[in-house]
Amino acid sequence: MAGKSGARLGARMLCLGAVMLCIVQVASAALPNCSYPAVYAFGDSLTDTGNSIAAFPEKFANAELDPNGILFPTHAADRYTDGKLLVDFLAFGLRRRPIYPVLRGTAGDFTFGTNFAAYGAPARTVKVWYKDDAFSVPFSLDVQQQWYERYKIRLWFYESPVYNPAGRLVQSLPKLATVNESMFLVWSGYQDYFFSLYDKKLTVSQTRKIVPEVVDAIETLIEQLLTPVYYTPPGFPTFLMPTATEILVVNLPPLGCIPAMLTLYGGPKAKYNSHGCLSELNKITSAHNKLLGERVIALRAKYPKAKIYYGDAHGVYTDILKDTKKYNVTEPLSACCGVGGSYNFNTGVTCGHAGLVDGKFVNLTMSLPATPCANPSGHLSWDGIHTSNTFNKAAVTDFLLGKHITPAGGLGCSPDFFFWNSST
Ligand SMILES: *[C@@H]1O[C@H](CO)[C@@H](O)[C@H](O)[C@H]1NC(C)=O
Ligand SMILES: *[C@@H]1O[C@H](CO)[C@@H](O)[C@H](O)[C@H]1NC(C)=O
Ligand SMILES: *[C@@H]1O[C@H](CO)[C@@H](O)[C@H](O)[C@H]1NC(C)=O
Ligand SMILES: *[C@@H]1O[C@H](CO)[C@@H](O)[C@H](O)[C@H]1NC(C)=O
Repeated sequence: MAGKSGARLGARMLCLGAVMLCIVQVASAALPNCSYPAVYAFGDSLTDTGNSIAAFPEKFANAELDPNGILFPTHAADRYTDGKLLVDFLAFGLRRRPIYPVLRGTAGDFTFGTNFAAYGAPARTVKVWYKDDAFSVPFSLDVQQQWYERYKIRLWFYESPVYNPAGRLVQSLPKLATVNESMFLVWSGYQDYFFSLYDKKLTVSQTRKIVPEVVDAIETLIEQLLTPVYYTPPGFPTFLMPTATEILVVNLPPLGCIPAMLTLYGGPKAKYNSHGCLSELNKITSAHNKLLGERVIALRAKYPKAKIYYGDAHGVYTDILKDTKKYNVTEPLSACCGVGGSYNFNTGVTCGHAGLVDGKFVNLTMSLPATPCANPSGHLSWDGIHTSNTFNKAAVTDFLLGKHITPAGGLGCSPDFFFWNSST
């Protein structure tokens, strides 16, 4: 909303006149360059740009080592993908620069927003943290929301002439008053389902049963973002903290099409759909997406002043599977960075590690010009677990253009990721 120019409005006004004319005009009118003050994000490793590695440097060391982030300008990307995450394309597409993780204490630039997502973070609350529980971090959505509330309080202190006299503290931060005009991304739940199955903590049918809890946790976060909170700084009158007014809620890609799941749950007894994906696992994400979509519709009615977008990542994924050629995707079901089997994935040695597979030494830690597969951009999955640069870009391009997103028109911003090349 903040940055949309007259181009879209013009197209809308013509729609009132004649439907035919309207279609022609909308198709040809250039979308504006959007300019949201900032982007804030919540979620898991599909969105984290470095929170969990900031908290646990050894545990997540490979996130900043090649080949993770080989397409990222500085390589030390802290991202589990080959290039950019969905949140990166969103931040660039909305005409800003990258957004930095909130736990990055040094060399972070928060001017254009802040990322609260964390690798290993489930949507459902982590009340007790088991250190030996592989992959999990105690940074569930409720904790990320607490970070965000504290963050707004710190912005207030930073801007206060009493607490920060003569601007003694100097940091690159957005203005507190722009929070209500910024874009909020909520993409969560993947961790909950994927790692329950990957670590065999739950069976497929047990995993289906957690869908309501996962969606409840996501809905709770959305409501908290939309609900005004009073704050009383010491020695100052109580005031209302700004709240989100635009939220992009993204659903989940089909779990049964992910190389790690195909490797672990495939076989002669498994049922496959026409794309070669596992039908039983796809039911989990379909149930999640259906419930999440219903909740978003209800939230729109409850918060009519807010714009709650529903980004259909699942629709983008299946569109690509249906027409791989259009997207130049050559290996839709196999990992780029991986080894072995039909899906180029083996739990024994995953991307960024070296070790033995069937008695043979494999090293998945190479740097450019070596790449883990012949054509990284031909894959939907980077490492068998996380979506690739190709998918992430396709999804955000659609969301900006108004495809696979509701309400109609989507974000309505020109999909130009220009700043990517000019700034890291
Ligand atoms: C959007 O920005 C690009 C540069 O990134 C520029 O070439 C283009 O003209 C701008 N479009 C509009 C509608 O302002
Ligand atoms: C956001 O808050 C500012 C300052 O309180 C106000 O001027 C502006 O109208 C608000 N914008 C929206 C979209 O609510
Ligand atoms: C696919 O490749 C062709 C030829 O290189 C290119 O023109 C087109 O933009 C590519 N499509 C996508 C979605 O990247
Ligand atoms: C794997 O290959 C990289 C790059 O060639 C090398 O630096 C690293 O030492 C190798 N790892 C092992 C365990 O051999």
